[in-house]
Amino acid sequence: GLVNTKDMFARAIKGGYAIPAFNFNNMEQLQAIIKAAVETKSPVILQVSKGARNYANQTLLRYMAEGAVAYAKELGCEHPEIVLHLDHGDSFELCKSCVDLGFSSVMIDGSHLPYEENVALTKKVVEYAHQYDVTVEGELGVLAGVEDEVSAEHHTYTNPEEVIDFATRTGCDSLAISIGTSHGAYKFKPEQCHVDPKTGRLVPPPLAFDVLDAVMEKLPGFPIVLHGSSSVPQEYVDMINQYGGKLEAAIGIPEEELRKAAKSAVCKINIDSDSRLAMTAAVRKVFVEKPAEFDPRKYLGPARDEMEKMYKHKILNVLGSDGKL
Ligand code: G3H
Ligand code: 13P
Ligand code: ZN
Repeated sequence: GLVNTKDMFARAIKGGYAIPAFNFNNMEQLQAIIKAAVETKSPVILQVSKGARNYANQTLLRYMAEGAVAYAKELGCEHPEIVLHLDHGDSFELCKSCVDLGFSSVMIDGSHLPYEENVALTKKVVEYAHQYDVTVEGELGVLAGVEDEVSAEHHTYTNPEEVIDFATRTGCDSLAISIGTSHGAYKFKPEQCHVDPKTGRLVPPPLAFDVLDAVMEKLPGFPIVLHGSSSVPQEYVDMINQYGGKLEAAIGIPEEELRKAAKSAVCKINIDSDSRLAMTAAVRKVFVEKPAEFDPRKYLGPARDEMEKMYKHKILNVLGSDGKL
């Protein structure tokens, strides 16, 4: 069945790689994730956001994830390690309902709350979830940008002085931190970037690795999570625009920075937007090149293939979780 994150995080930290946490909202994304994980022999975290629950129904998603374990075995993987994780849970009730349904991991995101309220809420979720062997991710620091209804104008980096107290008092299993990443496809403004003279592409300012280092110094060996880690591949942005889309100056996290993070105590890297871009690019291409096509399998199929390619690339060339089953 589904597993929690405990053992896979311990191995990832020791081994200097990170587990991919990919969001899913539909069957094609799920198939692409599972195929990529099986073919690369990687553990994987399936993430369900509040938005995904509203879109697809949490019960359906939960049984799709259960089905994914059987699907992985059918694809030839004897012992798949698949986590079903609630992404950005915002209340005790939401986390409880996911635990009760059979999720193997939940995130309680109290990062927008005053510190003591974040501690109290996270602790309450941990006390409940741990009774059922469900692991819990907490968050300290605020990412700039929009997530669900909450939006922040600026990053508030994680304060390394708080992490020991937070981890100890809440008992959380992993900690999401804020070091300059953000959600979505517009992580930086062009005016924050410089132009790479070789490629002509915009290069964003570096992440705050000094903050990550300080957190790791306070909590040696503790599992750290990086949200907002899509790299927004320029080829997808170009493809979307080429086939009638209109994305302007979409900028993500350079993969080199994610590679560096994956080698540290960062053992879970969250990627959602890159999957949306791959899917949109592939669908747009079919619509433009084959305007007479109206069988959804003829455009969702290519979209699924494109996502699978992207997921494999992340596992093999960025996170390094291949061959770790
Ligand atoms: O936290 C952000 C994730 O990319 C999920 O996004 O809330 O639109 O499903 P969503
Ligand atoms: P991206 O928008 O960068 O893919 O981040 C996803 C995420 O953090 C989900 O929790
Ligand atoms: Zn996130």
